[in-house]
Amino acid sequence: MNTERPHSPFDPVTIGPVTLRNRFIKSGANEAMCLDGRPTRALVKHHRDLAAGGVGMTTVAYMSVAEEGRTLPNQIWMRPEVLPDLRVLTAAVHNEGAAISAQITHGGSFVTGMKVRGRTISASSGFNAAGMLKGNFLQRAMTEADMTRVIDEFVAGAELARDAGFDAVELHMGHGYLLNQFISPMSNRRSDEYGGSAENRVRFPARVLAAVRQAVGDQVAVLAKINVADGPSRGATVEDAIVTARALQAAGAHMLVLSGGRNVESTWFMFGSNMNRERISQVLKSQGEWLTALMMKAAASSERKMTFREMYFLDYSRKIRAAVDLPLAFLGGVKSLANAEQAVREGFECVVLARALIHDPALVNKFRSGELRESGCDNCNACVAYIYHPAGTWCIHNPPNDPALNRIPAAAESGR
Ligand SMILES: Cc1cc2nc3c(=O)[nH]c(=O)nc-3n(C[C@H](O)[C@H](O)[C@H](O)COP(=O)(O)O)c2cc1C
Repeated sequence: MNTERPHSPFDPVTIGPVTLRNRFIKSGANEAMCLDGRPTRALVKHHRDLAAGGVGMTTVAYMSVAEEGRTLPNQIWMRPEVLPDLRVLTAAVHNEGAAISAQITHGGSFVTGMKVRGRTISASSGFNAAGMLKGNFLQRAMTEADMTRVIDEFVAGAELARDAGFDAVELHMGHGYLLNQFISPMSNRRSDEYGGSAENRVRFPARVLAAVRQAVGDQVAVLAKINVADGPSRGATVEDAIVTARALQAAGAHMLVLSGGRNVESTWFMFGSNMNRERISQVLKSQGEWLTALMMKAAASSERKMTFREMYFLDYSRKIRAAVDLPLAFLGGVKSLANAEQAVREGFECVVLARALIHDPALVNKFRSGELRESGCDNCNACVAYIYHPAGTWCIHNPPNDPALNRIPAAAESGR
C-alpha cells in the first residue's frame, strides 16, 4: 500500500543541486528596474518583497547575456560590472529565506526597443517585422561561428549568475526570443541540421543548455522555459514541445517551466487573454513613444479574442507531463490555492505565477495562513504596460512604485 501523503505546494522540493522551501516560484516578468542594464534599488525591493511574501524562489526576468540581446534598454545586460549590484539583489532575497533564479536570455531578432549595429541574429535570414520600430529591418541566419559565440555568452552569463549568488539559471527558450527562434517553425526556415524536424530545431538550444549545465550545473539548478505550443496553427505544436522537452532532458535540464505563445504573433496565447492595448498605448505615449503606441493599437485589430480561463495551459502541460520524467513547473493562469494544489497533485513539481504575484507579493504567505484562497488579480493585463514606464512594472490596483528607487543602482553607496 502506498502510504505516501500527496505533496502540498508548501512542501520543500529539490531541483538539481538546490532545495526550495516551498514550490511557489515567481515567474520571470520584466520588471523594468534597471539603469543602463544595471539593477536598481527598485529591483532589489521588488524581489525582496516577493521573498518576504513567502515564495520558494523568485526569478529575475530577462537578463541578457549580450549587449545586443536586450529587447529594451531597461533590461539587465550581464557583464562583470554589474556583479556588485547582482550580489545586493541575491543577498536581499536570501535574507528573507527564498532562493533566486536568473532568467538568462538573448533576443536574437526580437529587439523592439533599441537599435542593434548591423543585422540582428536569428535562426533564419530575412525581413524582421519585430525590429521595424527601431530600424532593425533585417536579420541574418546564425553561422556555426555565431553559435559558438552565443554558447560562450550563455555560459559566461550563467557563471556570472553563479558568482553573484543565484541559486538557479533559467534559459529562455520560449516567447519568440533567440533560442525559440530556432525551436519554432514560424521563425526557423533552415535546411541544415538545425532546421526542419522538431528534433533538428531544438538541436542548438539543447547545445546551449548542455554547455551551461556542464559549466555550472553542479552549483546552480539549470532550468529552461519552453513553449507548450506557439498558439497559431503554423507554429510549434504540443507534439513538438514533447520532442523539445525530451531533448532538453537529455541535455541535462534540472526542470522545465511550461509556458506558451510568442511576443509578436500570439500574446493572447501567452497570457490566455488579450493585451490591454489601451493602457499600453497610454503609457507609451506618456514616454513619447507615439509610433510604437500606434503600432500596438493597430496590432490589436488582428488579434484572436480570448476569454481568460484559470490554468489555461493545463491540457498541453498534462501531455508533456505524461511524456517526460524530469521535474516540470506548471505556469499560466494560476490564481488560487486550489489551482496550485491541483498542479502539484497532477505531478508538477513547482507552480509558477506572474500576474497574481505582481498584484500581491505576499500571496503565498496569505495562502499559507488562510487569509486568502484566491488572488485579487483581475487579469486586466495593465501591468504589462508598465514594462515601458520609468517607475517599473506595477499593478494598477496597488499604490504606485517609487520612481526615485529606480534611479539608484542597487550597489550604490547609501545616500546617493
Ligand atoms: C508585466 C509582465 C512582464 C513579463 N515579462 C516576461 C519576461 O520578461 N520573461 C518571461 O519569460 N515572461 C514574461 N512575462 C510572462 C510571465 O512570466 C508568464 O509567463 C505569464 O504572465 C503567464 O503567467 P501568469 O498567468 O501567472 O501571469 C511577463 C508577464 C507580465 C505580466
